[in-house]
Amino acid sequence: MRKWLLAVAAAAVFVLPGVTGAQAQIVIKFSHVVANDTPKGKGALKFKELAEKYTDGKVKVEVYPNSTLYKDKEELEALQLGSVQMLAPSTAKFAPLGVKEFEALDLPWLFKDDDTYAAAMKGPVGQWLFKKLEAKGITGLAYWDNGFHMVSANRPLIKPADFQGLKIRISGSKIADQYFREVGSIPQILAFSEVYQALQTGVVDGCENTPSNYLTQKFHEVQKDITVSYHAHLQYAVIVNSKFWSGLPADIRGQLTKAMDEATDYTNSIARKENEDALAAIKASGKTTLHYLTDDQKKAWQQAMQPTYKWAKGRVGQEVLDLLAKELNVQM
Ligand code: LMR
Repeated sequence: MRKWLLAVAAAAVFVLPGVTGAQAQIVIKFSHVVANDTPKGKGALKFKELAEKYTDGKVKVEVYPNSTLYKDKEELEALQLGSVQMLAPSTAKFAPLGVKEFEALDLPWLFKDDDTYAAAMKGPVGQWLFKKLEAKGITGLAYWDNGFHMVSANRPLIKPADFQGLKIRISGSKIADQYFREVGSIPQILAFSEVYQALQTGVVDGCENTPSNYLTQKFHEVQKDITVSYHAHLQYAVIVNSKFWSGLPADIRGQLTKAMDEATDYTNSIARKENEDALAAIKASGKTTLHYLTDDQKKAWQQAMQPTYKWAKGRVGQEVLDLLAKELNVQM
């Protein structure tokens, strides 16, 4: 017991004032930027439920959704400082940490469908990318899926030329920056929590995101036209502060790993349906017009954005591209 308590104390524990040592509880603050009612939001709550159950209440998980604790960039700083223990940012947001390789996952039309994405991330590339985080004091635990991006503006985006001159909000990846530049638009990085207002007030003209994010943030209410292009994938890396994680008693870490594995299976199993349902709700709302590309129109987008692949070599390096090419059985 004493050993357990000492280990707990070493692991950045939170002891409430007036609470005796025997009741000490490990608190995991899990911060994220989306709504509870999304694949990631539900995944975080599932992890909380399972982590508290498997540790028999020795661990308490506090989930802070919707940027209520930190916004995009701040949350990564807070994780490194140990002010928060767990996050699940989109992998497009890791460049400020000095880890650009994750951006390879944002290449347009890289993954044919959800299954291709899921299979690829189970291969060596997923763990290779997590290794890049170690030097930053961050440990990668899992990849969570959120489907494919649509793109929107206040005019129909059907041909590459339709993007000309539009200010498009992106979440951080230089790869997204590049593919939007290639169709003549002007990408702008904004924190997720600022997107709705930026769209509403015209600070930006458009954005890309998945149906579940459009619906829960009401982006569709301030965008007249959405193209269901599914041009790039949105995935999250569930990450923890390494010092916190390695300082946990081994049995607790094991129970949390089990909880994370199950929460990951759950999240990845609901992502597709959640996004299909969200798209149906957006359609039913009548607040925007959905556009679907014909095969020829899609080909024109693919051709226009294709130079991103060559450009990416200088940004993310050949090694990650080779790993992905091997996994996906394609040439890059
Ligand atoms: C975004 O900023 O658009 C997304 O990364 C938000 C999210 O976490 O799904």
